[in-house]
Amino acid sequence: MATSWKHRYAKRMRGMSSSAIRELLKLTQQSDIISFAGGLPAPELFPVEEFRAATDRVLVKHGSEAMQYSTTEGYEPLREFIVLKMAQYNIQAAQENVLITSGSQQALDLIGKILINPGDMILTERPTYLGALQAWRAYEAEFVTVPIDGDGMQTEQLEEALCAGPKFMYILPNFQNPGGVTLSLERRQALINVTDRYGIPLIEDDPYGELRFEGEHLPPLVVLDAEKLNSRTPAGSAHGFYRGNVIYLSTFSKTLAPGLRLGWIVAPTEVVRECVKAKQGMDLHTSSFVQMVAYEVLKDGFLKDHVHRIRQVYRERRDIMLDAMARHFPPGVRWTRPHGGLFLWVTLPEIVDAGAVLERAVANKVAFVPGTAFYPDGSGHNTFRLNFSNAQPEQIKIGIKRLGEVLTAELEYEKELANNV
Ligand SMILES: Cc1ncc(COP(=O)(O)O)c(C=O)c1O
Repeated sequence: MATSWKHRYAKRMRGMSSSAIRELLKLTQQSDIISFAGGLPAPELFPVEEFRAATDRVLVKHGSEAMQYSTTEGYEPLREFIVLKMAQYNIQAAQENVLITSGSQQALDLIGKILINPGDMILTERPTYLGALQAWRAYEAEFVTVPIDGDGMQTEQLEEALCAGPKFMYILPNFQNPGGVTLSLERRQALINVTDRYGIPLIEDDPYGELRFEGEHLPPLVVLDAEKLNSRTPAGSAHGFYRGNVIYLSTFSKTLAPGLRLGWIVAPTEVVRECVKAKQGMDLHTSSFVQMVAYEVLKDGFLKDHVHRIRQVYRERRDIMLDAMARHFPPGVRWTRPHGGLFLWVTLPEIVDAGAVLERAVANKVAFVPGTAFYPDGSGHNTFRLNFSNAQPEQIKIGIKRLGEVLTAELEYEKELANNV
């Protein structure tokens, strides 16, 4: 007898719904649609040749090691590389603070696995990264949110949200996905003061921090937290171990290639140990082969020039997109001007529904992601996210013109409707 699968799924699967929007976005993979929907890097910048040559060297020199099972914590030379890389940003960590993950997405899942009980409250920005909501809904988390503005999370509203008793906070300080905004230094300090006062953990998700095209690099929250700790107990910094309130996440997805599925966590050693236990049950370890090849590419300083090139290309694409938006978007539409990263964020007049606009946009051969998916409470109906890293400059110009036509028609229509009421 065929089983009834429907009755066998775990209760937690109810939190993982597939939306109509997702179905619509599947259409955007058609080749004649210009899609600003995905969070995809520019494929022509992937270091394919470097990886081909490095794969060859790894297989010749360390073939059997690369093919063998390995430790859960990650390939030691790569962990050490990350320790040194983190030190360039003043993040003082020892190898024991670093865990290699299968992308940052796995780090989010690991955090959910080790920290979240059903019904636990998580504090996030509003809007926030959809993938974190997906990961943590699987552990039956609930969300309390604080809105963002041009300077990131509005920290003056933080204490009120803390009354909900969140287990931890989740923040994207640099070129936030989806908002494109960056948390100001004052607000970074305010956040750390709060985490310190309440002893509440903070997850700092930073996939885009290196992709700044203008302005000064701002200190990561993990650095401000360590400084605060060390100012009170200098012994806290002994041997370079990090032991504060922050779990810092980053990834090679945006600086090398997302297909590698290579990210990392920097956290207090006790947290790393718990994550290691949880990761063993997930995938034993991140691919040793991929870690070794990536290390072979990275070890002689490849990343510096490569990231420089990515920044140039993305900056140019951001400018082209902003310029086209200024030209083609109708009055009443607002958007952010990111200083780095991959995304910008558009806000339509209240009466307009971005989901309905998407339907018309897809018919006009252009696509974006409506904002509601990024709001834990399902609000944000008049917002959407645009990605500027993936499409070629000419495509950006054409796509934004198409979108401008759709938005102009939509706003005219809404105006007529309002006049007729
Ligand atoms: C904020 C944020 N966190 C995590 C991820 C997941 O990245 P990875 O490819 O390393 O899993 C992304 C991917 O877009 C992201 O935007």
